[in-house]
Amino acid sequence: MTKQTAGRILVTGAVGQIGSELTLELRKRYGAEQVVAGVHRTPPTGALRDSGPYETVDVTRPQNLAEVIDRYDIDTVYHMAALLSAIGEEHPQAAWNVNMNGLYHLLEVARERGLRVFCPSSIAVFGPETPRDGTPQETVLRPTTMYGVTKVAGELLGAYYARRYGLDVRGVRYPGIISAETLPGGGTTDYAVAIYYEAVARGRYACFVREDTVLPMMYMPDCIAATIDLMEADGSGLRHRTDFNLAAMSFSAGELAAEIRKHLPDFVCTFEPDHRQAIADSWPRSIDDSAAREEWGWQPQYDLSRMTTDMLRRLTLRHAEGRLYPQVEGVERS
Ligand code: SER
Repeated sequence: MTKQTAGRILVTGAVGQIGSELTLELRKRYGAEQVVAGVHRTPPTGALRDSGPYETVDVTRPQNLAEVIDRYDIDTVYHMAALLSAIGEEHPQAAWNVNMNGLYHLLEVARERGLRVFCPSSIAVFGPETPRDGTPQETVLRPTTMYGVTKVAGELLGAYYARRYGLDVRGVRYPGIISAETLPGGGTTDYAVAIYYEAVARGRYACFVREDTVLPMMYMPDCIAATIDLMEADGSGLRHRTDFNLAAMSFSAGELAAEIRKHLPDFVCTFEPDHRQAIADSWPRSIDDSAAREEWGWQPQYDLSRMTTDMLRRLTLRHAEGRLYPQVEGVERS
């Protein structure tokens, strides 16, 4: 039986790009003490550290996971800890261990305690044989990255626990996520974040995918809203569980640079594709997310123009205060 009470929440990967902003929003909504930030090697800083509890959580160690969950009487886990696509190609074994074994351990702990679990998937579940425009909800899932392999398997594993054990496991296939707070690390879509930082910091950026590379993207406020809205949705209306396509906008790297130039006319962007181009080329250009819209009312708020205005406003302000890159050491910057 899944717990129905509004108990405490654990966010794994809480210092990551999505986890950091998700933790703060969950604390705002449900109370600071109700939301535990699960961190691994990198300690939390700033508001994340000061606004509520945090604990070291290694998802590859089931006893550690269970101990934290029991100590805080957790009933819902947002499982954001993962290695992304590009870093996953550098370290496929580590990507499998964290993404797959980590999820398996969490689902086992959740099964024994009836916890609710949010487990994100990604556009990385798709591959070269998938239709690339308006990618349907039900389609070919034959990814060519280890990250994608773990995300397909994760969707299936979560759905298995839902069917077999009645566990409430939910998830979406995030597009590339763009945000102004915590930098992403090790993803293929990282260029779409780095370009804003470097435009503000230096007025130049060397983009690691071709100018005509189109990928589905989303601004962080929409990403956070989608995540929490899905978890708060009435489960009886959901036909899908762990694999909702999710979309907001699609644009090429060249269009992104041109949009930034509307605000910063002197911005220069060069295109110097590296090994990440092949990953980008294996993913869809746009996504059909009608299942999410129909089953739980998904509706994005930000397009490229609105997102760019907000990103540049926030980053310009931080740059003026001398803290554009508040980032922890060791995270790749561009
Ligand atoms: N943003 C992720 C990546 O690039 C995709 O889920 O790896």
